[in-house]
Amino acid sequence: MSSGKRIPGIQALAVGLLTGFISCGALGAPPDAVAGKAKAQACFACHGESGIAAIAGVPHLAAQPPQAIQYQLVQFREKYRSGGGMEVMAAGLSDQDMRDIAAYYTALPAPVRRDADAQKITHGQRVSQASFCQSCHGASLQGQKHVPRIAGQAPEYVVTQLRNLRSGTRVDMDGNMASAAKGLSDEDIEALAAFSGAMQQ
Ligand code: HEC
Ligand code: HEC
Repeated sequence: MSSGKRIPGIQALAVGLLTGFISCGALGAPPDAVAGKAKAQACFACHGESGIAAIAGVPHLAAQPPQAIQYQLVQFREKYRSGGGMEVMAAGLSDQDMRDIAAYYTALPAPVRRDADAQKITHGQRVSQASFCQSCHGASLQGQKHVPRIAGQAPEYVVTQLRNLRSGTRVDMDGNMASAAKGLSDEDIEALAAFSGAMQQ
């Protein structure tokens, strides 16, 4: 497969995103959470009106950093990421729709932490420290800028994404997550999902 061809495209998109669409917003109207709620009606069936998904395999969006939501939606729309039919859901969204929808979900209360096996949580915390997960995802894994929140995220979802990032089934924009996930064992991934699921902030 032509991963060599794909990466410059991804980098160009990443640079465009970081320098233009995400950071400036000067060309668009300011994000509007009320308009965002109206535009997000089609999302509620899976992601919930509260941003807490009730369906296994669907991520919680509540309290995600706004840039992280926009960043993923652009990736789906531009077909750099696929899964769950999200390419279709994002296809019709304008940049302004994405800003508005992100403003709605970001303001909702974060998902409630999940208890897990204490040994798994401790193992997960060790791996997180050794792999510097918190240096990007935040001290409480609450996310920042375009880096997603994983605190309180559904553990099954975190496991799937880490496996996909490790195998390259999901291509991350700057390659940082691919390298963070590369050395993780299945056991580490389960433990990290327990650890992040049990975080709340
Ligand atoms: C039919 C169910 C369904 C609908 C409807 C849906 N989604 Fe999703 N969404 C998913 C699934 C499943 C995933 C995870 C995809 C994967 O496994 O990679 C996802 C992923 C996402 C992500 C990435 C989150 C992250 O943490 O990486 C965002 C953002 C998102 N959806 C926003 C939306 C928005 C906005 C709408 C409405 C316009 C919407 N979704 C409608 C099922 C749905
Ligand atoms: C150098 C910064 C960096 C480090 C270190 C890092 N991440 Fe990430 N992580 C990111 C970015 C950026 C994304 C979004 C990638 C994309 O879709 O382009 C991400 C995405 C993810 C996702 C997918 C979340 C979602 O909602 O789709 C998970 C899960 C995750 N990281 C967990 C971890 C874990 C666990 C570690 C430690 C082993 C880690 N990350 C280390 C930056 C980082």
